[in-house]
Amino acid sequence: MRFSQDFLDKVRDANNLVDVISRYTQLNRAGGRYVGLCPFPDHREKTPSFSVSDTQQLYYCFGCKKGGNIFKFVEAMMGLSFPEAVDWLARQAGIPIPQEMYQRSEAVVAHAQERKAMAEINEFAIQFFESELRQSGPSAPVKEYLKKRGLNDETIKTFRLGYSPNDWEKLSSLLKARRAPLNLAEKLGLIRARSQGGNGYFDLFRHRLMFPIFSLEGSGIGFGGRVLGEGEPKYLNSPESPLFHKGQVFYGLSETAKFIRAQDQAIVVEGYMDLLALYQAGIKNVVAPLGTALTEDHAKLLKRFTKNVIVLFDGDQAGRDAAERSLPILLGAGVLPRGFTLPDKMDPDDFVRTQGAEALKGKLAEAPELFVLILDQDVKGYRGTSAEKVTLIDKMAPVLATVPDSRLRDLYVDEVASRLGVTGEWLKEALAQSRGSQRPGLRTANKAVEAVPTMESTPPPEVSIIKLGGKRPKAEELLVNLALMKPDYMRLIVDLGVVQFFAHAGLREVLQRAILIHGQMPNEFDKLTALLVSQVDLSEVLFLHLENHLENLNLEGAQKLIADCNRKVQDAFLKSQSRQITTTLRGRPAAEQLEKLEQIMNMHRQRRDRGSERDPNSGAFGS
Ligand code: CTP
Ligand code: MN
Repeated sequence: MRFSQDFLDKVRDANNLVDVISRYTQLNRAGGRYVGLCPFPDHREKTPSFSVSDTQQLYYCFGCKKGGNIFKFVEAMMGLSFPEAVDWLARQAGIPIPQEMYQRSEAVVAHAQERKAMAEINEFAIQFFESELRQSGPSAPVKEYLKKRGLNDETIKTFRLGYSPNDWEKLSSLLKARRAPLNLAEKLGLIRARSQGGNGYFDLFRHRLMFPIFSLEGSGIGFGGRVLGEGEPKYLNSPESPLFHKGQVFYGLSETAKFIRAQDQAIVVEGYMDLLALYQAGIKNVVAPLGTALTEDHAKLLKRFTKNVIVLFDGDQAGRDAAERSLPILLGAGVLPRGFTLPDKMDPDDFVRTQGAEALKGKLAEAPELFVLILDQDVKGYRGTSAEKVTLIDKMAPVLATVPDSRLRDLYVDEVASRLGVTGEWLKEALAQSRGSQRPGLRTANKAVEAVPTMESTPPPEVSIIKLGGKRPKAEELLVNLALMKPDYMRLIVDLGVVQFFAHAGLREVLQRAILIHGQMPNEFDKLTALLVSQVDLSEVLFLHLENHLENLNLEGAQKLIADCNRKVQDAFLKSQSRQITTTLRGRPAAEQLEKLEQIMNMHRQRRDRGSERDPNSGAFGS
């Protein structure tokens, strides 16, 4: 069951975003909005880049790019789910939850209670494993193993390593004695009910070195248990649970986040042991995914702390493959990945143990960009045949398409061109062709759906999420934002008819939807942006209009800017049309070439006419 639209409107209208945010940061009025230091703890700043619009009830941080409406703020700030946030805001405003939603809110409460109970069980288990380790004698296998791996007491304490005893039901019976909900302990993968015949539960982690996995806030969400020595499986890991989602968590991050932020750099390694070895050697800005490939969620999580990421994967084929798979994901998230391939068969743990931390630091300092590293890996043994070139271009096209920064993308294109011995221009055309021929499914790294989960953000199924990734022409981005600023600007832009010339399909779609919605509800302009924000994948693109230089525009300035953008969009459109025509012309009969040429001339004439007839500066639009 969903909250009704009416109810959500009521809750939203009864709360003021400025008041809610003011509990977390001091907001000062500045022009038509409020500004202050970003309240999110993962973005500590000294100069205010956080902006709140009172009329639109939207917030946006120009520093960390978080933004949205009041529901989104409460979710993000308090770590609640959408229904929990609605529930909280309704209570704040004293709005009773309607009878038919009662069940839902019970479900919400039950869910929260279950998570809390699960967290308590995990904490109990962590303490149990810690105490088992403390109590084991100096020659116990687990102590021998720790010694062999060179982990010292301080590291053990910091990461709360433990030992699961060689016993089938020690943990189960302790949990039972404490009257802990055993079904939840089972969900967490700590114990399992005996199948028919037996009764009660048995422990799943036995005789293993235990690595607790923590959420960013430091609560235990899962475990990895390593066999002491050889044996299968080498690691036993907690299953996915309401607390634990492998693809969204890094091992160690709750401890290493502060070092990552301080050094503005993160080193990604593959394993628990690698992370601990580096940390212990004094390289503390490390994270490790949990035996899974790096996901988009991982990349986004890292980017909250730093944009400088160094991938340090094992020196085997699996490590090289993992590094290669991580490239488009990191690029797509807008981080700047570098990489370093370890010598044959070595992992970071081996490297620091044999060569020392200083040697590793040296390697890290000179680590090349991951793109270049992978490229060089790919051109190894390359002989320069045309077939090889085409294969490489097809391989690189989707990777390049994930780079959101066009300057960076151009630099990478040049890197590829120089390896192939072709010009950048030629390669760009070839890449465009290659992209065209294999479009479906390639843009996965840009999926990043940061939809604002509000009633508007669970758009009815027919409203698809608009993709705003890829290279966005500045003029088009500005026009979209200007249209969202004031009804007057919107009208100017509608009258120009410029939307049809947009090169970026996503921006075109956003503006078309804005025009449509505004036409349908002209008196609700203030809600327009909030509505659209929930229909796009990169909400920050729609927040540019909160920026200072746009907000200080007067009507005249806005008209100029709109006219200017209009011209740029149309010019770009004509250029691409001409280019398209000229390329199809090559080698065609002269008569046909002439005809096409005429077509181009016509387009230019049209553009000129349209310009003089509709240029807002000509006075056609007063007031
Ligand atoms: N992993 C896993 N299950 C396995 C093997 C590996 O979950 N059977 C995951 C673990 O998260 C592990 C990571 O993949 O940390 C990397 O694997 P590997 O390099 O084999 O492990 P290390 O952490 O290097 O452990 P060790 O040095 O003890 O071999
Ligand atoms: Mn290892």
